[in-house]
Amino acid sequence: MSYLDNFINRMVAQRTCIDLARDLIRDVEGPILEFGLGHGRTYDHILQNFPDRDVYVFEKVVSPNVFVRPPDALLFEGDIHETLKTAVRRLPRKAAMAHSDLGLKDRDGAVPIVASIIAHLPDLIAPGGIYISNTDISLVHGSAPPGFEELDIADVPKGRYFIYRLA
Ligand SMILES: C[S@@+](CC[C@H](N)C(=O)[O-])C[C@H]1O[C@@H](n2cnc3c(N)ncnc32)[C@H](O)[C@@H]1O
Repeated sequence: MSYLDNFINRMVAQRTCIDLARDLIRDVEGPILEFGLGHGRTYDHILQNFPDRDVYVFEKVVSPNVFVRPPDALLFEGDIHETLKTAVRRLPRKAAMAHSDLGLKDRDGAVPIVASIIAHLPDLIAPGGIYISNTDISLVHGSAPPGFEELDIADVPKGRYFIYRLA
């Protein structure tokens, strides 16, 4: 498979998971969290899928080339290790979903960030809410941590993109 094929497959899986989330969180109230704004492609897709929910964005540095800039009130700018610590105080309520695309390329760089995310998510996501990620959270402990159930996604090959339901 070429790098181009791999990239396209990942983007298709990403969009499929975000689209599936419409049904998965239909009965879960709360805003949405987006980890990694980048150019804002997935942020914009989430905005269009969930026009009635606030979308809070966590981003180290907002690119001047971003397509859609989040309002300051909904932006957690800075390293996610730090901003996750303040999120529980700033968010008005628990979120229905978080989506993470932090561009974590190597395992060593990913482990501390994923560990930080899974440590904070139970305080940030409502029961029954979901976490969508391009990174397998089992890379931290060897399996999904307690309270995170990995969902089978029929339209996405196993291991390409991940959705977890929080207990
Ligand atoms: C692959 S890009 C996201 C692309 C985005 N989903 C899109 O569709 O345009 C990854 C983003 O995560 C951000 N990021 C990486 N590590 C971070 C960290 N530790 N804290 C906050 N943001 C981080 C990067 O600055 C970058 O903007």
